Amino acid sequence: MKEAGIELMKNTKSVRDIDVNGKRVLIRVDFNVPMDEDFDISDDTRIREALPTINYCIDNHAKNIVLVSHLGRPKGRSAEFSLKHVIKRVERLLGRNVGFAESIEEAALLQEQSPSGSVILLENIRFCVGEEKNDKDLSQKLAALCDIYVNDAFGTSHRAHSSTCGIAEFAKERVAGLLLKKEIDSFAKAMANPLKPVLLIVGGSKVSSKLALLYNILDVVDKIIIGGAMSNTFLKACGYDMQKSLVEEDLVAEAKKILEHAREKKVKIYLPVDVVSTDDVKTHTQIKITPAQDVPEGFMAVDMGPATSKLFSEVVRDSQTIIWNGPLGIYEIQAFSRGTFNLAHAVSDTYAFSLIGGGDTADAIDRAGERDNMSFISTGGGASLELLEGKILPAFKVLEQK
Ligand code: 3PG
Repeated sequence: MKEAGIELMKNTKSVRDIDVNGKRVLIRVDFNVPMDEDFDISDDTRIREALPTINYCIDNHAKNIVLVSHLGRPKGRSAEFSLKHVIKRVERLLGRNVGFAESIEEAALLQEQSPSGSVILLENIRFCVGEEKNDKDLSQKLAALCDIYVNDAFGTSHRAHSSTCGIAEFAKERVAGLLLKKEIDSFAKAMANPLKPVLLIVGGSKVSSKLALLYNILDVVDKIIIGGAMSNTFLKACGYDMQKSLVEEDLVAEAKKILEHAREKKVKIYLPVDVVSTDDVKTHTQIKITPAQDVPEGFMAVDMGPATSKLFSEVVRDSQTIIWNGPLGIYEIQAFSRGTFNLAHAVSDTYAFSLIGGGDTADAIDRAGERDNMSFISTGGGASLELLEGKILPAFKVLEQK
């Protein structure tokens, strides 16, 4: 594990370390929030989490504040991905009017015309050709909007784009926002010098997307609980017939290797001992609980069974630090949500430091009613995964160090 990387990111200068009084501040936020088909925001956590930095700049008399974000993955300009869909919520949560700029030029104009302390939201930065290519011209144009560049978009800090990286080269000052600091401090607490025993709970559908994480984390943790569809591949590696369950056949050998590595490093791995399986995920006319070795013919495992819930809860109870990435069953379907929800309750019953990463995991914990009982829920999916993989995130590399 590259602890040095996390320590380096922890030493990033924050907005509190500089003087924002009378300065034009550009804050890269991550307002990439989920919306339904009517463009109603279904989860505004990312906007709420950006408020402390915005309010800090307002309270400390910044001349004006330009908010820059992306929304979705648009292919060119389109109403569907406009940040106009979020401005009302931003205004309501901030408790003040927010100007809207269709372009960087319009943002510059608004800066000149608006009274001191104004907040301006720039249209989706991904509408600008060059954003995702970290284009120099675009980076320069963005930097010209500010005296201070603040990055508070943790969820996008694994992307080397103009608004997350390139801009820093041309800005006079470049620091982290309060959310970015909170995120990195939480990951440092869980990974760089954690209270032991340290437990990783990992789930989700694919071993392939968690390989780098598993190899890196073996140097950090004492125990790993593997659940979700990815545990099927591990159970197959143990020689079990998983019937119609989702198994990554080409990764069965890799799963064996991980089990061996873990043994060598004295990291204990816990796999489901019983599973809930069904003949059909959609209709689930038949649901059975069996030992993991005995998945009925033609059935597929979709959740962990009650014995596993008990066993995993014991492991959770004995941990001081818990890192959780990935749900442990098809939690969106009520019948297959018990395993994930039971474990969420078990984590909430501990006094351990619990760090939750990944949108699905946060959603599952929310549905289990345990959001407020976790120590920290990261606002980053891909970004938190890359931190767990031991990477230094590009957006941190360009910010000033203390
Ligand atoms: C996210 O939702 O993970 C971030 O906002 C980054 O979005 P992206 O994967 O489209 O870069």
